[in-house]
Amino acid sequence: MCGIVGYIGENQAAPILLDGLAKLEYRGYDSAGIAIYDGNEIRMEKVMGRLKVLEELTHGGETMPGCAGIGHTRWATHGCPSDTNAHPHFNKEHSIVVVHNGIIENYAKLKRKLEAKGYEFLSETDTEVLVHLLTEYYDGDPIAAIERVMRRVEGSYALGIMFLDHPHHIYAARKDSPLIVGASPVGNLIASDVPAILRYTRNVYYMENEEIVCLSKENIRFFNIDGDKLEKTPTTIDWDIDAAEKGGYEHFMLKEIYEQPKAVRDTISPRLKNNDVVIEELGMTDDELRAVRKISIVACGSAYHAGITGKYVLEGMARIPVEVDLASEFRYRNPIYEEGTLAIIISQSGETADSLAALREAKKHGVRVLGIVNVVGSSIAREADNVMYTWAGPEISVATTKAYSAQIAALYLLAMKFAKVRGTVSQEEFLKMQSDLEQLPEQIETLLGMKEKIQRFANRYLAADHMFFIGRGIDYAISLEGSLKLKEISYIHSEAYAAGELKHGTISLIEDGTLVVALATQENLYPKTISNIVEVKTRGAFVMAVTNFGHKEIEKTADYVIYIPKTNQFFTNSLAIIPLQLFGYYVSLGRGLDVDKPRNLAKSVTVE
Ligand code: AGP
Repeated sequence: MCGIVGYIGENQAAPILLDGLAKLEYRGYDSAGIAIYDGNEIRMEKVMGRLKVLEELTHGGETMPGCAGIGHTRWATHGCPSDTNAHPHFNKEHSIVVVHNGIIENYAKLKRKLEAKGYEFLSETDTEVLVHLLTEYYDGDPIAAIERVMRRVEGSYALGIMFLDHPHHIYAARKDSPLIVGASPVGNLIASDVPAILRYTRNVYYMENEEIVCLSKENIRFFNIDGDKLEKTPTTIDWDIDAAEKGGYEHFMLKEIYEQPKAVRDTISPRLKNNDVVIEELGMTDDELRAVRKISIVACGSAYHAGITGKYVLEGMARIPVEVDLASEFRYRNPIYEEGTLAIIISQSGETADSLAALREAKKHGVRVLGIVNVVGSSIAREADNVMYTWAGPEISVATTKAYSAQIAALYLLAMKFAKVRGTVSQEEFLKMQSDLEQLPEQIETLLGMKEKIQRFANRYLAADHMFFIGRGIDYAISLEGSLKLKEISYIHSEAYAAGELKHGTISLIEDGTLVVALATQENLYPKTISNIVEVKTRGAFVMAVTNFGHKEIEKTADYVIYIPKTNQFFTNSLAIIPLQLFGYYVSLGRGLDVDKPRNLAKSVTVE
């Protein structure tokens, strides 16, 4: 996934582009570049490394004068991170220049055809075929050339394009990769995501698939792939700017860990009314809810882990069969679609390519799709039949925390709604659940108070090579997320295991001093998990246990214990995950790594 910004107006473009790219670095940061029309020619600077390398190279944009330009920050897919493979990409004559987010799946075939026509390729990227195709088709009409390219290429793209003989315009086109257009008093902009342009405007147009836009400093014109003009309605963004800034925290991740009480409260409160769960955006009557015979949850990464929790909670509370799939598997395994299935696609960004493809696959087979999404107006939110937003606010750090917590809170609400209409819980049980749910934000707040204790413990494991997370039932789901949090930001190998499964092979990896984090919040499974703790202890493990207040006896078995406040057994994930997030954060910090932008990763993977 990459970040794109474009600007045309009365101000100098380069500083605006660099500022916008800085807000998009979470989308990819292995190289960056900008192209600016300087009144005579299109000039370009691009370089490998973080954005600050480009900022230093261009003295903050001062060496690149001009009021129209496009910029790009890259997460490499085709072609290693390098100056040459960085975007933008010129054609030979330097008369057309392109930035691209996505994957051109038929680029190899197109490249061979273009090379046979004499086009010379300088980079290893798929993107470069776009600028040579545009050259091939361009006959003075940029929109016509763009349309022809869109018909030839397969795959996903968000494009920013400039034509030297149309210097007072910039162009953009979109298919499957996000792109927005901003109209501001100082000029017009394109960007991959809202934070890049929020400083200049709250007036945003979301581009749909196969749409083209032509920006001048005065106006914005939209077209479809047939060249027909389109009228689009802008959306007003109501985020406050500092919501997307660090707000005094050292990292976005810590800020977002601390925003979890609010994220959970904002997700559940509007949906708890008159001692009932009211999810109007579900778009389903009680009868339709009762008619659901199976739920198919599909997601990636942490959203998938939220889905695993959803399975235990929905099956346990509402007695509905639930299947959970990794989106990258679901989309190709030719699943069996049964009558009465509700598909739930969980995604923070709403742009994850595999999850979006899974949504389309399910819809193609007539399955009703509900999105649980954090980014308003994102592709999954717009293409699902209904969307239940997680009101976590903008999440910038690559490692998700508050959006994950809001996702599981949304799943609790869904399960309670299903349980209520299907009569699988009594009114008394329901009211107790509602009370427990309403206490979660405050209980999370309490757990955040142990950050120093967690940091001290984390500092003992900075040099660890391996760690294991184990649990049963919902504790297993928590283990999955705790393990991913640690490995994706600390680069320490870690595995999550169903505690009962460890003895079927992996326990052979436990050595003296191996850290095993044991989740023991499920009261009905507690004795079994204690047995598993003993098993790993006898093989030399150092055990950090996470369990409910009151289980003091565990200190006879585990070496280090974190207690969480008592809550409904279905909701313990929301509490137990807090110390695990802090643990991962402080191990990464202690190892001197870039917590918010871990190597090789991107915030939303909008390519396969
Ligand atoms: C989580 O910390 C990771 N950044 C990653 O696993 C993420 O959850 C996954 O890529 C799914 O992203 P989405 O929720 O935006 O679809």
